[in-house]
Amino acid sequence: MDDRPIGIFDSGAGGLTVLHECLVTLPHEDFIYLGDGARCPYGPRPREEIRRFSHEIASYLQDAGVKLIVAACNSATAAALPELQERLTVPIVGVLAPEAHAAVQATRNRRIGVLATEATVASGRYAQAIHTLDAGAQVVATACPRLVPLIETGAPTEEIDAAVREYARPLKDEGVDTVILGCTHYPLIRPVLERVFGRMTTLVFSAEETAREVAETLDRKGIASERSREGSTRFLTTGKPGEFRALGERFLQLPIAGVEQVAIRDLELAAA
Ligand code: DGL
Repeated sequence: MDDRPIGIFDSGAGGLTVLHECLVTLPHEDFIYLGDGARCPYGPRPREEIRRFSHEIASYLQDAGVKLIVAACNSATAAALPELQERLTVPIVGVLAPEAHAAVQATRNRRIGVLATEATVASGRYAQAIHTLDAGAQVVATACPRLVPLIETGAPTEEIDAAVREYARPLKDEGVDTVILGCTHYPLIRPVLERVFGRMTTLVFSAEETAREVAETLDRKGIASERSREGSTRFLTTGKPGEFRALGERFLQLPIAGVEQVAIRDLELAAA
């Protein structure tokens, strides 16, 4: 038994969707959530920069004494996961492989769509992960640069709806029957995505698949907490704590008692 917390990070509030699924699956675990609100969005940034930010945050969480880190950000996973796993001692779970696996299992016509940030699409990591499992699957990926800023700023639904329709068009034209929502922010607009794609398309969300992987990893490594205990969560942001709290509570209907602010300098020092 190991009662140390699990660290979860994202560029902003998107990783809260992963935290939510982890809380449903693992209510006895403690969590530390760190959102890099001051530097969100990651999607348009160069790979090297996303890699540096991810390394800083993961090092900070490792120093805070976590037993496992979840990179709850597809852009960070695509840019930095192998390097983080090489450089840190704590186990790190990313958000890309579990969805690729779920999509390959779900598709009937072997045409899989991906909606993600520019960085994730440019990395080609989803196509790679899918082709490792099914070399004959067809992958159609669309970058959605407007979605994360619209979600983080709580833009009006009409704008979000119009953007999703536009980004979904090429996937529909190619006849995909399964779509990976390859950004942890996207479950926050789940009803829009479900309406636009309809009942006949299987949607694969990172959050659910990742929570399953976290639970399995804890069990197999023998580092799960005592099941009879009740876990707690600490929230950290590099952005404005009040804004983070309001966004988190609204999206997840999760009461957040307090949000601590982390200085970027402290993240930089952790990675130095
Ligand atoms: N939620 C993140 C992802 O999964 C971040 C997106 C962004 O910051 O652009 O990619």
